[in-house]
Amino acid sequence: MYNVPKLTDYSAAALERVAAELLSALEHEAASAKSEAEWKIFRDRWMARKNGLLTQINDLWLKGAPKSAKREVGQLVNSVVIPRVDTAIRERHDHIKSLAILKKARAEGLDVEIDVAKRALQSSGWLDITLPGVRRPIGAEHPIIKTMHEMVSVFQKLGYSVADGPVVETDYYNFESLNFPPNHPARDTQDTLFIAGQQGKPQWERLLLRTHTSPVQIRTMEKMRPPIRIVIPGTVHRNDPPDASHSPMFHQIEGLAVDTNITFGDLKGTLDHAMKEFFGSSVKTSFRPSFFPFTEPSAEMFVSCFICGGSGRRGADPCRPCKQTGWIEILGCGMVDPNVFEFVKDNGYDPRKVSGFAFGMGADRIALLKYGVDDLQLFFQGDVRFLGQWA
Ligand code: PHE
Repeated sequence: MYNVPKLTDYSAAALERVAAELLSALEHEAASAKSEAEWKIFRDRWMARKNGLLTQINDLWLKGAPKSAKREVGQLVNSVVIPRVDTAIRERHDHIKSLAILKKARAEGLDVEIDVAKRALQSSGWLDITLPGVRRPIGAEHPIIKTMHEMVSVFQKLGYSVADGPVVETDYYNFESLNFPPNHPARDTQDTLFIAGQQGKPQWERLLLRTHTSPVQIRTMEKMRPPIRIVIPGTVHRNDPPDASHSPMFHQIEGLAVDTNITFGDLKGTLDHAMKEFFGSSVKTSFRPSFFPFTEPSAEMFVSCFICGGSGRRGADPCRPCKQTGWIEILGCGMVDPNVFEFVKDNGYDPRKVSGFAFGMGADRIALLKYGVDDLQLFFQGDVRFLGQWA
C-alpha cells in the first residue's frame, strides 16, 4: 500500500520521481475498486480531510518545503496531483455506475440500454470488440425538396435562373402590386395569416406570411431589367387547418418570363415541355380558362394522369388521384397582367413594350402524386421511418 513519503530532496528529478510513484499508485488503486463500496473507501483514502493522502501531501510536501522549493512543490501539487486525483475518482465512479447499468440491462434484456452502457464503459477504457460500430446514418433529401429541385432543374435547363424572396411579406408585394383589389377575398383573414400588431400601419406596409410565391415576381422585376426568366421555389402559408391534403405551410414553384413578344404560345410550349421532362414524355397537357388578378388571360393547366395513363381506371378500379377524369390539375398560369407591369414600369417594364407569362404550382401536391403518398401530413411529421424511404 502506498505511503506518502517525506521529502528531503527537492531537486526537479526527485520531485518527478515522487510524483510518478504517486500517480502509479493512484491508477492501481482506482483499478482495484470494483464496487460502489470499494470506490468509497478508495475516495476517502485519498480525499478525506482528516489524514487523507491529499491532506498528508499538503502537510508533508508543501508545508515542510524550504522557501526556495515552495513554488515547484506548490505547482506540482496544485496543477498535477490534485486534478489527477479528482479525475481518477470521478472516472472510476462513472465506470462502476456504467457496469451496474450494464449488468441490470443484461438481466432485463434491454438491448438499447446494453449498447449505451457499453459505450459509456468504452470511453473509460473498457473494450468490447464485439460491439457494432457507431452508425451515423446519412440524411436524405426530403421528398418535397427533392421534387422542387427536380422541377427547378427542368427550368434551369431552359435557361431560367433561381430567385427567392422573404416569407414574411408586405401587403404591397403579396397583394397590391399583383393587382388584387382592396377587398379581394384572398386578402381575407380566412386565408391569410397576418403578423399581429400591424393595424397602425398603412395597408400596403402591413406584414403577413406570403400566401404564394408570386410576390417574388415583383421583387425580381424591381431588381432586374427585362428580359428575365426565373423560377422561384419557396414556402408559403395559408390559414388552412391541416388534413390529408392541406397544410398551413406548403411549397410552391413559381415561374416568370418577360421579354418583347412573349405570347400565350410560349407559355403553352414551355409548360408542355417542362411537364414532359418532369413526368415523362407521354404526358399531355390541357389548358382551361381561369382567373388570377395578376394574369390575363389566366388558365389552369392539367396533365394527363400519369398514374392511369389518362384512362381514369386502374384495371377494374377507379383511378383515385385523377378522380376518374384522366386529368390532374397541376398549376395556375397566364399572361402577366399589364396592371402588374405598371408597378415596375420605371425599371424597363413598359406594358406597351414587354409581355410575359407566369405560372405557379404546388410542390407538395406534385410530390404526393409522384410518390403515391396519400396523406400530406406524413411529409411534415419528421418520422424517419417514412422519410428514410428517400435515402
Ligand atoms: N399564385 C397563384 C396561386 O398561388 C398561382 C399562379 C402563379 C397563377 C402565377 C398564375 C400565375 O394560386
